Amino acid sequence: MSAPERVFVPAPAKVNLCLHVGERRADGYHDLESFAAFAAYGDQLRLEHAEEFSLSVTGPFAAGLTAGDDNLAIRAAKTLAERRQVRRGASVTLEKRIPVASGLGGGSADAAAVLRGLVRLWTLDADREELREIAASIGADVPVCVDNATAWMQGRGERVTPLPSLPAVWLVLANPRIAVSTGEVFATLGKRRGIGLDCPRAPFADAHELVRFLKSTTNDLELPARAIAPVIGDTIEAIAGLPGVLFARMSGSGATCFGLFGSEASAVEAADCLRARRPDWWVIQTVLRAEQSK
Ligand code: C5P
Repeated sequence: MSAPERVFVPAPAKVNLCLHVGERRADGYHDLESFAAFAAYGDQLRLEHAEEFSLSVTGPFAAGLTAGDDNLAIRAAKTLAERRQVRRGASVTLEKRIPVASGLGGGSADAAAVLRGLVRLWTLDADREELREIAASIGADVPVCVDNATAWMQGRGERVTPLPSLPAVWLVLANPRIAVSTGEVFATLGKRRGIGLDCPRAPFADAHELVRFLKSTTNDLELPARAIAPVIGDTIEAIAGLPGVLFARMSGSGATCFGLFGSEASAVEAADCLRARRPDWWVIQTVLRAEQSK
């Protein structure tokens, strides 16, 4: 197989439909369980052959990112090269469309997209299992982003069990344009539901059935995040008040919140309505992805 000159890779935003947090472990992290789903919306990466590794960031949220060696995308590229003894670099162009530090796993999605893309650029024979293992060495949220498919996350997030694909569900994502520190949210944890829920097995027939399940779950990071940044509470309430909304919650450690909808038209109408009310917020409408990434 001849090597492509360049590859384009999507890095879909991750939405934690629920997130339960258990006890603090000896390593300082908390055990958690989360129903992760992916949006059709996300960052876009372009990878090209180069002698050294480099990253340039474009797009609406480029300003919030440092393009240095500590960027997860570059760490992922270097880790794969080291593992596979590839003595080349790559030039990575990242179009940052996911708000930074926003509970949508953007950095992890970028790192996983780099792994998938470099396998194609360098024509490596690495399978998804190997990529997930490399991904786990980069960050707890990276393995689930390798396939970008609906999954149940456990441990620190690195243990991933695939879930049946979702019915058609549209969503509105809203962020009051604040970045929230994940570490600070975990440090503010109080009373919570905790872990121990069985991973949902049966496929959900439609958006209503999914919502019925989600109502029996929580995002345990919502209360501490709202205490740190009360505007998160305003965001959830604003989404919950939109026409046609089936469900509203915060994703990850915030501050992005989501609303679920049963049709594209209702999500579009609701997003328009929220933009008109809160022109200062970041608001988009999209759909949950049914399939994994190539
Ligand atoms: O995963 P990340 O390094 O971004 O997490 C930032 C901080 O959030 C960690 O240093 C830890 O304090 C906390 N955290 C946690 N349990 C998790 C994930 C993160 O306590 N499962």
